[in-house]
Amino acid sequence: MKIGIIGAGNIGGNLTRRLTALGHEVAVANSRGPHTLTALAEETGAKPVTASDAAKGAQVVVVTVPLKAVPDLPVGFLDGVAEGAAVIDTGNYYPQQRDGRIAAIEDGLPESRWTEQQIGHPVIKAFNGTYAQDILDRGHPQGTRGRQALPVAGDDPRAKQVVRDLIDELGFDTVDSGGLDDSWRQQPGTPVYGSRGDVDDIAKALAEASPERTAEWRA
Ligand SMILES: NC(=O)c1ccc[n+]([C@@H]2O[C@H](COP(=O)([O-])OP(=O)(O)OC[C@H]3O[C@@H](n4cnc5c(N)ncnc54)[C@H](OP(=O)(O)O)[C@@H]3O)[C@@H](O)[C@H]2O)c1
Repeated sequence: MKIGIIGAGNIGGNLTRRLTALGHEVAVANSRGPHTLTALAEETGAKPVTASDAAKGAQVVVVTVPLKAVPDLPVGFLDGVAEGAAVIDTGNYYPQQRDGRIAAIEDGLPESRWTEQQIGHPVIKAFNGTYAQDILDRGHPQGTRGRQALPVAGDDPRAKQVVRDLIDELGFDTVDSGGLDDSWRQQPGTPVYGSRGDVDDIAKALAEASPERTAEWRA
């Protein structure tokens, strides 16, 4: 598939590594420009591009920048995506350490709903509770006992299936965690966040989540 990755840090870099290794055609962008991505491009074969160009023609786009940077993404950066493209949001709200106060999220809007509003395109929430290094180290073939599972939330069933199939290719099971209105179940501070459990563990952790945002995760 043609995949655009916006953000080349911990998560974006490792997704670039694994997705190119699987044979996907990856374009990758950061904030400083393609000339700063030559090492990653040489290592992986991904094409370094500007954030405005990363999503052009892509069937899957991964938005993996700090939450506070989402409003800075170029206007219309998703205009040229392929018909029916799936846009993955890996983001988390870290008000105290990184992002500052975002009033709508403090007031209860699920984090990915906020991101969706900022970028003007529906998103599928995935990878947000997965350690970046695990993307490289912990993938296993389908059917492996105890295979690590990732929760995936989103409103568009077709886009969600595309993302779940891609995660399977990367070596992980998935659990459908519902629509974006339910995606608070996988936000920071919930039982599933950072879990390395299998499908049963993840389903149980999602069911045990509370919608209340604890003090640690408030501005
Ligand atoms: N680290 C993890 O293990 C982990 C796990 C799950 C989810 N997450 C979440 O995923 C998101 C990304 O995390 P990360 O750890 O990968 O971040 P990171 O290592 O800090 O990397 C962020 C990337 O975003 C790029 N960026 C920032 N502003 C941009 C803009 N306006 N346009 C284009 N690119 C921009 C940065 O480019 P420059 O370097 O050029 O500024 C950098 O490549 C966060 O919301 C995080 O909470 C992280």
